[in-house]
Amino acid sequence: MGKTTAQYIREYKWSNIFAMIRNNAKAPKRCTDRFDGKCVLITGASSGIGYVTARKYAAQGANLICVNRNRDKSEKLKLELEGEFGISCSYFIADLSCLAEVVSLSNELAKLSYPIDLIIHNAGVYLTRRELTPEGFEKVFAVHYLSSFIMNYILMDKLMKQDRARIIMVGSEGHRFAAWGLRLDDLNWDKRRYSGLKSYGSAKLAQLLSMIIFKERFQGSGLTINTMHPGAVKTNTGQENGRFYRWFKRTCFDRALKSSELSAEALYYLGVSREMEGVSGAFYNLTTREEPAPPALDRELAGELWKHTLKITGLA
Ligand SMILES: NC(=O)c1ccc[n+]([C@@H]2O[C@H](COP(=O)([O-])OP(=O)(O)OC[C@H]3O[C@@H](n4cnc5c(N)ncnc54)[C@H](OP(=O)(O)O)[C@@H]3O)[C@@H](O)[C@H]2O)c1
Repeated sequence: MGKTTAQYIREYKWSNIFAMIRNNAKAPKRCTDRFDGKCVLITGASSGIGYVTARKYAAQGANLICVNRNRDKSEKLKLELEGEFGISCSYFIADLSCLAEVVSLSNELAKLSYPIDLIIHNAGVYLTRRELTPEGFEKVFAVHYLSSFIMNYILMDKLMKQDRARIIMVGSEGHRFAAWGLRLDDLNWDKRRYSGLKSYGSAKLAQLLSMIIFKERFQGSGLTINTMHPGAVKTNTGQENGRFYRWFKRTCFDRALKSSELSAEALYYLGVSREMEGVSGAFYNLTTREEPAPPALDRELAGELWKHTLKITGLA
């Protein structure tokens, strides 16, 4: 079942780490084409990167479908985007840590009579303490990985019939924290010590592994899927954690972080630019293509994870 940690370590290339450090300092490529009348679905558009990205797409003429968990924030965002940019913005309310809600949302989206040109899986959480959802899944894994998997899986028939739709998953260089790979027998961290970095790294690694199989499934249809790291930017991430964490983040981390406008610029380039036409299965640091860490390239593990996910989500 996948490779061993020792095999991954042998495959690690220092040159990739140095490239990542260099790329972290680069500005994203910009796309100046407009996206008038296209339909863009963004999850977690109520805050941080998702919010700024929704504004960027609306400013370029796209109509939006926002998937958020908070109704008041969604209504406010709809009024703001429609009023300021004259586009149409609808929203769906769903808690993306709840699989039943994600399945029902995806089924509704699959029935839409119009195309969804671009999906941006952006919603995410960072938790310093393990939390299980009422359905029994570790929350970070459910929000980042299971929700995007379910949406892609249920929507793929619709998207593959369309003309060159794109999917972008907001991943992270943090997948490199999961240097040992994924433990399919302990995705909930029952057997190992939990930490925020480890669970976050694993969830982002799982996303990258699912991309391998989705890319194969989409082959020849025109539908593409890519994953990007949005930079280290100042957002509301981590608000669910304790007072000490929030103080530490505010006083230490936030000062060093960049503006989420950079992430939005990169997400616009990856979603719209002609250079990205037909590109699929790739990982980007903003808009620079990178080779992800060895566990994220393990095809055998990706296949096992795919089968396991279909089983635990009931999609099989
Ligand atoms: N910030 C960075 O430097 C950085 C670096 C690498 C990757 N990322 C990734 O970027 C993405 C966006 O994060 P961010 O930094 O912009 O954080 P953020 O400001 O906390 O935004 C997260 C968004 O996800 C939504 N969300 C969280 N849990 C949800 C749930 N259970 N159901 C539905 N929506 C949910 C939040 O909704 P509410 O508004 O209701 O809270 C919010 O809209 C994440 O995938 C994160 O892992 C960020």
